[in-house]
Amino acid sequence: MIKARAPKIHGITVKSFREIRDELTLDFRTPVGTPANMVVIAGPNGSGKTSVLEAILLALGQPDKVDKPSSRLAWRRVVPQETTISVDVSFDGDPVERHSSLVPEPLEIEYFSSWQAPDFVGVGTSQSQGRLKQRISDEKIRAAFCGEAGRASQWLSRINEAWQILRHDDTRLDVQLVDPNADDLLADLFLLRGDERICSIDRLGQGELRLFTIAATVVMKELTTGVVLIDEPELHFHPEWQGGIFSVLRHLAPDVQFIIATHSDIIWDRAPEYARFNLKNTHHCAF
Ligand SMILES: Nc1ncnc2c1ncn2[C@@H]1O[C@H](COP(=O)(O)OP(=O)(O)OP(=O)(O)O)[C@@H](O)[C@H]1O
Ligand SMILES: [Mg+2]
Repeated sequence: MIKARAPKIHGITVKSFREIRDELTLDFRTPVGTPANMVVIAGPNGSGKTSVLEAILLALGQPDKVDKPSSRLAWRRVVPQETTISVDVSFDGDPVERHSSLVPEPLEIEYFSSWQAPDFVGVGTSQSQGRLKQRISDEKIRAAFCGEAGRASQWLSRINEAWQILRHDDTRLDVQLVDPNADDLLADLFLLRGDERICSIDRLGQGELRLFTIAATVVMKELTTGVVLIDEPELHFHPEWQGGIFSVLRHLAPDVQFIIATHSDIIWDRAPEYARFNLKNTHHCAF
């Protein structure tokens, strides 16, 4: 499989896309001209934050990350004819290239949406979480059988580092057999304190699940470069955890460019002035 190219985004221009009618230009560069590695987009409800993130995905050839073609929300994948989206990107310091939705080329970019959040972080039956915990459990059991250390131990140790940045207590996540005395080898991911089992991951709080989902995805997809878009990372987070989000993301992926849409004053305050954008002030909207 050919790996997609890993970009850094220097800026975006959007016009006639959903509620963004007039041309909106956001320049993500630092004062020395390099792309900022942490960009924060704020603004009132309906001001276009999610639209900017999805415009980036559409211009960079990733409509499937906006939504699946079969979804009832598949209209989100569509770039209307009158729309202009152009995204300036560079690769490893090469000259800047302009990418538009007209000539999309898939680039390495990941998206954590907020409107899919109930499914994304939901307990038990959540497909995404099911997939993540299933992969970790399967890999841990496979490695144990083969007498290897295995990737699951590495994943879990990184996930637990992120967990500790926010929880700072003696809990951790690990795979265990559901019933060590049973004949089957059914395994699950559990919250533990020392050797004591507290509960299955399905019973975590919503904020804890959101933390697990973001950390596990970044670690297991080996997102070490490129761009990660996160819509409202503060969902379900107490202000104390909101204040730790940057530390978690930087720890997990120091070289990734994170572009974040948020309602959190705490996240806004932590971003440097050149890397934060209030959509209320940057384009005409009805608010
Ligand atoms: N085709 C369209 N033309 C005009 N406005 C549209 C169109 N499609 C969606 N909208 C408007 O876009 C707005 C939603 O934009 P978006 O989801 O980007 O906002 P947001 O800043 O992320 O808001 P929130 O903070 O609530 O998540 C809504 O007000 C919706 O009515
Ligand atoms: Mg939104």
